[in-house]
Amino acid sequence: MRKLIKLIFIFLKNLVIISRPHILFGWFRNISFLISNTISLSKWISKQNKKNIYYHSSFFKRDYSKRYSLYNYIVENQKLDKQPFDYLEFGVCQAHSFRWWISNCKNENNNFFGFDTFEGLPENWGAFSKGDMKANIPQVNDSRTAFHKGLFQETLPLFIQSTNFNSNKRKVIHMDADLFSSTLYVLTSLAPHLRKGDIIIFDEFNVPNHEFLAYKIFTESFYINMRLIGAVNNFFQAAFIIE
Ligand SMILES: C[S@@+](CC[C@H](N)C(=O)[O-])C[C@H]1O[C@@H](n2cnc3c(N)ncnc32)[C@H](O)[C@@H]1O
Repeated sequence: MRKLIKLIFIFLKNLVIISRPHILFGWFRNISFLISNTISLSKWISKQNKKNIYYHSSFFKRDYSKRYSLYNYIVENQKLDKQPFDYLEFGVCQAHSFRWWISNCKNENNNFFGFDTFEGLPENWGAFSKGDMKANIPQVNDSRTAFHKGLFQETLPLFIQSTNFNSNKRKVIHMDADLFSSTLYVLTSLAPHLRKGDIIIFDEFNVPNHEFLAYKIFTESFYINMRLIGAVNNFFQAAFIIE
């Protein structure tokens, strides 16, 4: 009986493939993908315990200053002012967030690495087109900083090769690249180098087809336990600690 069910299943599957359903139903793919990821996101959010984390939910208005209060909380709660750490930001653009970290974390042994094409987004993203967000490499006048210009897919492998990740320094990884592909690429590349206590911040976490999807696929594929420590703007910005 099981053999027969298996044969029928294989037959039906092959029938679906050769009948090329995308011709009739291709229009439905994007909308069903968005609906599916939105349902995953809402399910994920509803499962989070918001009591023991830093949490602000602004329902009607997105308040960007809240992300700086989240950074403040991370620094204080994780005692980052008591120990040197490496800060890696993916998606620097005009360096608004990058500058916050260098000016609020003064330990001379901190290092701040910024990665960006500085030629703008490599793909379309929502209402933004490929090439939007182009910016000059920021002038920050701080010897602790270094910028890596180019696609993460080109600069990160070289950075990883030349970096000693075995030091006891914690890492603060700031994902602000917006795109699914960029976020997933960085997370998977850094996965072997993540240590307990490292922090990962997302800047557009609640975008279902992009950062959230990258987070979901990453955590499900690598079995890496990331505990939520803070979220603001209804999970637009979210921060996690590696356990
Ligand atoms: C939203 S902006 C960053 C904003 C910045 N963190 C701030 O607070 O001002 C996103 C940036 O990600 C960069 N980016 C996205 N994908 C990238 C990739 N694969 N390689 C390099 N840069 C990328 C874009 O060039 C863009 O400048």
